[in-house]
Amino acid sequence: MASFPHFLALTLSPLLLLLLMAHPVVSQCKNRPIIFNFGDSNSDTGGLVAGLGFPVNLPNGRSFFRRSTGRLSDGRLTIDFLCQSLNTSLLSPYLDSLAGTKFTSGANFAVVGSSTLPKYVPFSLNIQVMQFLHFKSRTLELFTAGSEQNLINDDGFGNALYIIDIGQNDIADSFAKNMSSVQVLKRIPLITIEIKAAVKALYDQGGRNFWLHNTGPLGCLPQKLSLVKKDLDQYGCISSYNDAAKLFNEELRRVSLKMRSEMKDAKIVYVDIFSIKYDLIANHTKYGFSSPLMACCGYGGPPYNYNIHFTCGQPGYQVCDEGSRFVSWDGIHYTEAANSVVASKILSTAYSTPRVKFDFFCSS
Ligand SMILES: *[C@@H]1O[C@H](CO)[C@@H](O)[C@H](O)[C@H]1NC(C)=O
Ligand SMILES: *[C@@H]1O[C@H](CO)[C@@H](O)[C@H](O)[C@H]1NC(C)=O
Ligand SMILES: *[C@@H]1O[C@H](CO)[C@@H](O)[C@H](O)[C@H]1NC(C)=O
Repeated sequence: MASFPHFLALTLSPLLLLLLMAHPVVSQCKNRPIIFNFGDSNSDTGGLVAGLGFPVNLPNGRSFFRRSTGRLSDGRLTIDFLCQSLNTSLLSPYLDSLAGTKFTSGANFAVVGSSTLPKYVPFSLNIQVMQFLHFKSRTLELFTAGSEQNLINDDGFGNALYIIDIGQNDIADSFAKNMSSVQVLKRIPLITIEIKAAVKALYDQGGRNFWLHNTGPLGCLPQKLSLVKKDLDQYGCISSYNDAAKLFNEELRRVSLKMRSEMKDAKIVYVDIFSIKYDLIANHTKYGFSSPLMACCGYGGPPYNYNIHFTCGQPGYQVCDEGSRFVSWDGIHYTEAANSVVASKILSTAYSTPRVKFDFFCSS
């Protein structure tokens, strides 16, 4: 095994470099940076567990937190790395009644499984925004009463960053309901209308800084691949699923452009997560990953290591030793190592329209 250390050096050093790049020089904000996040499991930092008591077990959390925090990953999510780039605390789930007064640098409304439609079902984007509106009025009430001067005040809400990362479940659910590609594509404008409505509702409340993530390559998820074994592209991903994701993204990009002209004093940044993640899969060796279409934690072994009856953390699952060599943690969600690369790419501004730095909102 003389070549083993050499092999490690070759494959791990670019990854380590990227891990370091993910939080290079911590930015200096003039004021305390405040972030509100809305979305699904890609950015849920414990909302499902707090809200519904639904268990998320180890090995989730094993690499960074050393316990399960309710995040569906072995460690930090992209949103966590983004928070750390600002030297701010990780976002507590809004539904976490034990978070105490930790809502001083924002709150996370994202919950596993959320979509934009149907609109009045917990925890759709619309419900998450309604929860935010309650959070805001209650916080300002307490602030005015003087009970907690550490709470976010009106300026804090106005200068905050509002992140939205949703749409993956809307598209996935459509395919799961056996809709044809044509039917799935027809639904796309209805999804982006909901995202626009959310931005507008937050804008009407005084929000001016928005950060919108588009959706990733759904057709590269081991869970999807284990069900649909046809229609694969050159990297082994399901073409029709990725085409739907790309059309959703194109529509979201168009809607973002329109919103910029309608809300002129707002900054609305659109981030191309699809390109970041697709590059990660296509060029995985460059980033230190192997088997980008196989889950680290799951069941069944190659090619996808995913079985719906033995999912990660549920009885019968198996887990890999080196999560840092995998892109996919559980067949749906990314590993901490992959999330770190995604975050460093987001922070590079190369995937943002307009190309502003992530900390743009905290310099005012
Ligand atoms: C980061 O935060 C810590 C504690 O909150 C503080 O001691 C440190 O000075 C901060 N660093 C920067 C670069 O702002
Ligand atoms: C899905 O749709 C196809 C074609 O419309 C049909 O042949 C198939 O039986 C459907 N499958 C399920 C599970 O409904
Ligand atoms: C893979 O990397 C090459 C070189 O950086 C780049 O040109 C290409 O677009 C990448 N592939 C994908 C699918 O992003």
